[in-house]
Amino acid sequence: MISKMLQRRNFIKALSACGIAGLIPATMPTPALSITRPYQLTAGKSAFNISGSKQADTDMWLYNGSCPGPLLRLRRGEILRAEVTNQLDVPTTVHWHGIRNINDMDGVADLTQAPIEPGESFTYEFPVNHSGTFWYHAHTMSWQQVARGLYGPLIIDDDDDPVTDHDICLMIDDWRLDDKGQIHQSSLGSLHDWSHAGRLGNWLTVNAQSDPAFSVKPGARVRLRLINAANARVLTLRFDGVEAQLVALDGAPCRAETINTIKLAPAQRADVICDLVTEKAFIREISTGTDHPAGHFVATQELGKATAPKNAINTALVPPLPDLRQVRRITVHMQGGAMGNLTEARYDGAVLPLRELAQKHKKLWAFNGQIGDYNNIFAEIDLGSVVSLDVINDTAWPHAMHLHGHHFWVMSDDPTVDLPSGQRDTWLMQPQERASLVFVADNPGLWLFHCHMLEHAAAGMGAVLSID
Ligand code: C2O
Ligand code: CU
Repeated sequence: MISKMLQRRNFIKALSACGIAGLIPATMPTPALSITRPYQLTAGKSAFNISGSKQADTDMWLYNGSCPGPLLRLRRGEILRAEVTNQLDVPTTVHWHGIRNINDMDGVADLTQAPIEPGESFTYEFPVNHSGTFWYHAHTMSWQQVARGLYGPLIIDDDDDPVTDHDICLMIDDWRLDDKGQIHQSSLGSLHDWSHAGRLGNWLTVNAQSDPAFSVKPGARVRLRLINAANARVLTLRFDGVEAQLVALDGAPCRAETINTIKLAPAQRADVICDLVTEKAFIREISTGTDHPAGHFVATQELGKATAPKNAINTALVPPLPDLRQVRRITVHMQGGAMGNLTEARYDGAVLPLRELAQKHKKLWAFNGQIGDYNNIFAEIDLGSVVSLDVINDTAWPHAMHLHGHHFWVMSDDPTVDLPSGQRDTWLMQPQERASLVFVADNPGLWLFHCHMLEHAAAGMGAVLSID
């Protein structure tokens, strides 16, 4: 693979040398004839069993009646077309989380498009020019729509993907169910959740099941694609019975690293190559101090022999940090929430005390003294510039900070923070952490930067960056 890559690079170099390069953008290895993959997604109300076969079905909001929504799987360079029909009785939109998308197709209601009204449809169409593990989810009142089940996995395959015997996507969620196994209604939108850690659940599922079993070839090499679809729960997953190597975070390659556990904040993903070393292997969620089974593998002779070679993973694809000499620094001072130091903030043109913001407007979080709203441009950025979002988490809570339309490098002044070797699209900030999220602003449009603890986002923890 490496030699193939090099050959391709040399080929492009050779082309530039003879002046043909102008015709072929070197950074766009998209095949000339892009294949369009059409999908239909219908957002609607349906009953689905997520709490075990002995329990009643849960009334949910789902895409195509399925939990998670249908797997959308394409190859890099193809075009995703999704006709989304809204059969809910509220407006909705779909965001393609982690895709460095065309701004119009980003799915942020009232920012990049008008919401899709009940009974209406909207067709998203965009190329997918980078490979990895992504997901799609509702981006209209997402604190409610995602909590009810409106999300699904999106996988982009690549010629450079490591060879494995199995490729398994695990979409993990933490639901808050009542004692009848229904989505807990009276706490949806609770001010307490919005001002504290967000909506934490009481029922863990993996692909809508508890502890699903996966039959695999004995000794197989398995690519796990882990996606945290929870509103607010930071998951910690532990692997037993496998040799696990982390190869990508948030759909971006990282230097391969042997791991036993991985922490995943809401919206984050991790791709882990697991070599089975025992008959049975387990994944457990351990963040609360109690082990919760989160899937297991059963070596199954009938599936035949594992054939994927156990060779080292090619990590030549990790892009280097850009030149920081001309960096545009943007300070993001995060404040608010319970036990915080925010006393007042600007909202809708006026400076209001926090008590009034909370009680009248349900707004609790601010960046640089401003409550997030889509009518307020937080920063204007020149297209092509190198930007550092210098973020200070001056609150008592962790926050999963997500940037739309771009991936960023993470630099932190906290030596205890384990920095990713590649890029990410969502970074979990600990209380009082300062981090610089560095990105090349090469994608024009209006892009959100917000907390993916969805209650925090709804309560003002977000900003619009304008790039042009
Ligand atoms: Cu996955 Cu703005 O979100
Ligand atoms: Cu947050």
